[in-house]
Amino acid sequence: MSHYVVRGGQALRGTIPISGAKNSVLPILAATLLNGGRNVLHNCPDLRDVRWAMAILEHLGCKVSREGDTVTVDSTVVDRWDVPHELMREMRSSVIFLGPILARCGRARLSLPGGCDIGQRPIDLHLSALRRLGADIRQQGGDIFCEARDLQGRDIILSFPSVGATENAMLTAVACGGATRVINAAREPEIADLQEFLRKAGASVSGGGESVITVSGEMPRRDVEHTILPDRIETATFLCAAAACGGEVTLTGTEPEHVGTVIQCLREAGCAIGCAGRTITIQAEGRLTAMPTVRTMPYPGFPTDAQAPLMAAACTGAGNTLFIETIFENRFRHANELARMGADIRISGRTALVCGGTLHGARVRSCDLRGGAALVVAALAAQGESIVEDIFHIDRGYERLAEKITALGGNIQRIGT
Ligand code: EPZ
Repeated sequence: MSHYVVRGGQALRGTIPISGAKNSVLPILAATLLNGGRNVLHNCPDLRDVRWAMAILEHLGCKVSREGDTVTVDSTVVDRWDVPHELMREMRSSVIFLGPILARCGRARLSLPGGCDIGQRPIDLHLSALRRLGADIRQQGGDIFCEARDLQGRDIILSFPSVGATENAMLTAVACGGATRVINAAREPEIADLQEFLRKAGASVSGGGESVITVSGEMPRRDVEHTILPDRIETATFLCAAAACGGEVTLTGTEPEHVGTVIQCLREAGCAIGCAGRTITIQAEGRLTAMPTVRTMPYPGFPTDAQAPLMAAACTGAGNTLFIETIFENRFRHANELARMGADIRISGRTALVCGGTLHGARVRSCDLRGGAALVVAALAAQGESIVEDIFHIDRGYERLAEKITALGGNIQRIGT
C-alpha cells in the first residue's frame, strides 16, 4: 500500500492549475453511451474513478482511449447491458450508468452499489425516478434488473435534490416519448455541465443548475466534443491547504463562483482572497480565526465534499468552529485521525466542534477520499513529520496531488506506486 511522507510547517507559495471535475466527468462518461457515436472529452483528470468508468464503457462494447487529458469514447457498438459486481464494487457511483444503459439498450443489469465509507448511500431516489418514467425494475440477489417496457416522459419529484438521481433521471428521460420535468433537481454545477454535453449531442434539455430540469424525449445522435468543467472540490481543498499553512497561492483554470461558500468561510477566518476570471489567489498570514458555523447543504450551500479539508484548516486556527454535516451520516471519520495530530474535535451526532490549536506530525490513515485529503492538509500545516496511509482513497479524486503540492513548496513524498 502507498503512503505519503509529509514534513509540515512550510508556507505554500506559487501557482498551480486545477484539473477537470471528477464529479462531472463520471456522469458525462456514462452519457457517452447515448449518441452511438464519437465523444471527445477534454480536461479529463486521470483518476482511479475515471479509469473504472472507462473500464465499464469498454466492458459494454465501447472503444475508449486517452491522449493526455483528452478521453475519446466511440459508443457506436454497445453489445452488453450489464455492469458486473467487480466493476460496481470499485466505484459505487457507477449507478450513474443505469439510466444511459437502459436508454440505449432498453434493459440494464447492475450489481447493487451498496454503501461506502461515508454512509449507506441508498439509491431509492434513482429507482423511483426511473420507475416513474416507465422502467420495470426488479431486485434479485445483489442485482438490479431494469427493463424499458414503455418509457414515457413525466414529472419526477425528488424528495431530496440528489445529484446522482437527477443525473440518472436526465439520462433516461432522453429515451422517453414526451417531456420529462425533474422537480427539486440538484443544482450542482456538474448538472449544468451534463446538460451542456447532452445539448451538444442533440438532446433538448433546459433548466440545468435550477430546481426544475426539462428534458424532451430526443435521443442524442450527434458526435460531441466537450471540455469538462474545473473541479470545485480540488479548488476548495487547495484553498484550505493555503489557509492552514499560510503563504500565497494562485489557482488557475477554476471557477470562483463554484466555491463561493468556501471563500466566504476563509475570508471570515482572516484570509485575503482575490478572484479574477478563472483564477483565485489566496493570501494567509498568521493563524486563522474562528469561522462561522459550517453547515453542509445541497448546492449552492456549503459543499459536503469540502467539509473535511476545511475542518483540517480549522484545527490549526485560534478560534472554535462548529461543523454540521447534513448530507451524509458518517462523514466525520477523519476527526479521529486528526486527533492523532493533536486536533481537539468534539463530535455529537452530525455536529463537530473544532477547538483550534496546533498540530504535530503523526502516523494517520485515510478513511475516505475527502477525509484523506484533509489529513494531507493537516500534515502540511503540522509541526514535524507525518505519514498518511491508504492514499488509494485520495487517488480516486485528486490528480497529481503530491506534484502540485511540491510545486507550491510543500514537502511531500509518495512512497509506493
Ligand atoms: C454526489 O454523490 C457526489 N459524487 C458526491 O461526491 C457528493 O458528496 C454528493 O453528490 C453530494 O454533493 C459524484 O458526483 C460521483 P446525492 P451522490 O445523491 O449523487 C441521499 C466525492 O467525495 N440519497 O446527492 O451519491 C444520500 O444518502 C463524492 O466526490 C438517498 O437517500 O449524492 C445522501 O444522504 C462523495 N437516496 C444525500 O441523498 C438516493 O437514491 C446526497 O446524496 C440518493 C441519495
